[in-house]
Amino acid sequence: MINFLVRLYLDLKYILWSEKMKTFYITTPIYYPSNKLHIGHSYTTVAADAMARYKRLRGYDVMFLTGTDEHGQKIERRAQEEGKTPQQFVDDIVIWIKDLWKTMDISYDKFIRTTDKEHKEVVAKIFKKLYEQGDIYKSEYEGLYCTPCESFFTEHQLKDGKCPDCAREVEKVKEESYFFKLSKYQDRLIKHIEEHPDFLMPQTRQNEMLNNFLKAGLEDLCVSRTSFKWGVPVSFDEKHVVYVWLDALSNYISALGYMTKNDADFKKFWPANVQLVGKEIVRFHAIIWPAILMALGEELPKQIFGHGWLIINGGKMSKSIGNVIDPSILVQRYSSDAVRYFLLREIAFGQDGNFTNQALITRINSDLANDLGNLTSRTIAMIEKYFDGKLIGKGTENEFDANVQEIIKENVSFTEENMEKLFFNTALENIWTIIRRLNKYIDETMPWVLAKDEANKEKLAGVLYTLAEGLRIVSIMIEPFMPTTPSKIWAQLVITKGDLTNWDTIHNFGALTEITAKKGENIFPRIDIEKELTELENAQQPIEQLQSNKELEPEVPISIDDFTKVKLKVGEVIECDKVKKADKLLVSKIKIGDEVRTIVSGIAKFYSPEEFIGKKVVVVTNLAPVKLRGILSEGMILCAEDKDGNLVAIAPEKEIANGATIR
Ligand code: MSP
Repeated sequence: MINFLVRLYLDLKYILWSEKMKTFYITTPIYYPSNKLHIGHSYTTVAADAMARYKRLRGYDVMFLTGTDEHGQKIERRAQEEGKTPQQFVDDIVIWIKDLWKTMDISYDKFIRTTDKEHKEVVAKIFKKLYEQGDIYKSEYEGLYCTPCESFFTEHQLKDGKCPDCAREVEKVKEESYFFKLSKYQDRLIKHIEEHPDFLMPQTRQNEMLNNFLKAGLEDLCVSRTSFKWGVPVSFDEKHVVYVWLDALSNYISALGYMTKNDADFKKFWPANVQLVGKEIVRFHAIIWPAILMALGEELPKQIFGHGWLIINGGKMSKSIGNVIDPSILVQRYSSDAVRYFLLREIAFGQDGNFTNQALITRINSDLANDLGNLTSRTIAMIEKYFDGKLIGKGTENEFDANVQEIIKENVSFTEENMEKLFFNTALENIWTIIRRLNKYIDETMPWVLAKDEANKEKLAGVLYTLAEGLRIVSIMIEPFMPTTPSKIWAQLVITKGDLTNWDTIHNFGALTEITAKKGENIFPRIDIEKELTELENAQQPIEQLQSNKELEPEVPISIDDFTKVKLKVGEVIECDKVKKADKLLVSKIKIGDEVRTIVSGIAKFYSPEEFIGKKVVVVTNLAPVKLRGILSEGMILCAEDKDGNLVAIAPEKEIANGATIR
């Protein structure tokens, strides 16, 4: 009997617990660590983070997955160029990526790397299972091949009939390959997309996939390669490595322990609630990925959301175009909360949006410093001034209160609806409607006039109560987007994380009973836009592009004419200093014959100004001048760089006059 009761109690507890524990699984794509990430990459991650934080606040048990996609020919080659093994090469960048996510307050629950042992084992198992059940078969890949680049191309990818990468002749080749029967799943995929209107969002992506790909007919997919080694070997045929996309897509389930003994997370979190991807990789996620899952007999994710791009001057950000924006510089200058706010507020999620420094600073000034910053500082300052920082009771209401409370109620519910649809920018608009309404309320009620007459004390208390309670509600609502600002507001309202900071409390205006206010730091200081724009642009100069060989294209022979275009001369360092607020840079005066030039170089880690003075160096003299941290740099000092990035300035081997030409 006792046993039975204990059993019953445990069962009931479990039922109640699982009712209560709602789960939410959200993923970002896994990033290529072949480059450092730019603000465009941060966009996907910041959006996923806002959603993960929102769901946690709503009581969900969240799994937020991100990571890195580390295999493939591109990475193998980049590593080679840097004289590193592929593993060393990716290890270095992954440290940098994790650091970036830390500075941007990305609260991922798991970071997966496709070089993780556990992941590789799962990929190998998936490949084998699909092969054994007949969904993968061996055949031959026939196509155009560039031997030096080890790359396959289709006819229309060629440039003037030659390799688009190195401009050399391509040849027709046949390579033994494994193929996945993608075509077999075509009809099921069409049916799934048509019957589940929420599966692929926004709507435009559905039409794109259905009309441009699925209804045009799918071909089987080549899923193995033999021409390079950096990948997961096919377990039963080791000269093949698994195609990078099959390897990469599997991360979403390998991270949950799929096909392993530790598959509790898979049981708990799969199918994913939302998989966020940029629009250019929707095809892989809305066609190949579901087809693989169908072949494995697993459920499909509930939603794939293909967001738009952050563009610069009408084009996608790209390292090769040289128009990338480094998020860490922005975070350092304006805080991660400000950058996150801008990304999610400025661009309608799903559409493309332009990034400009000016738009960023304008938004910081208008929305953060003016609207939110002023609401906070005015509310706190008035409670301090008129009530010595302590407000007891709720005072009396005035004729504007009903409308303020209505606006709050309405916009709390709009925010919740918009968050469910991943409409981040509209959710933020809803929150800012509350903030602007509260600021207007200050102008309507004019507390400074009420304060003149002691008889208005209760009325004044009522106004300040509404403001403080409104501010508290706003501070909770911004938390998913701006994780560090709320605690700065709470410190000034003297509340700690707990009952008064729970999301549920924002549904009923009036949870705050006693208010203590304590003036603190200005949460978003106003920026002098003119001055800041110049300083920011200087800070964003691509120093690395000028002074490193990291971006080397595959070696293509150049003619002697090309070489002689570069003018090299011997110069002597006559003055040298550190550049303020730039720990990598030295600024030197170099005497080259009769002229003296100013040159900024990224060598401060390797030479002190004192030891650099007096050295003879080699200078590129016909490089277009460029401003670095506000200093016009008129040339470049040649350095040798080893695989660890150590730099040594190149010097003439024997004494020679400065100004001597190098040829
Ligand atoms: N490794 C693949 C994804 C494999 S997922 C199984 C990949 N990596 S990526 O590093 O190139 O891109 C990662 C994400 O960053 C993609 O969703 C991509 O759309 C996003 N972005 C890269 N540049 C972007 C912008 N300029 N704007 C917005 N997002 C962009 O693709």
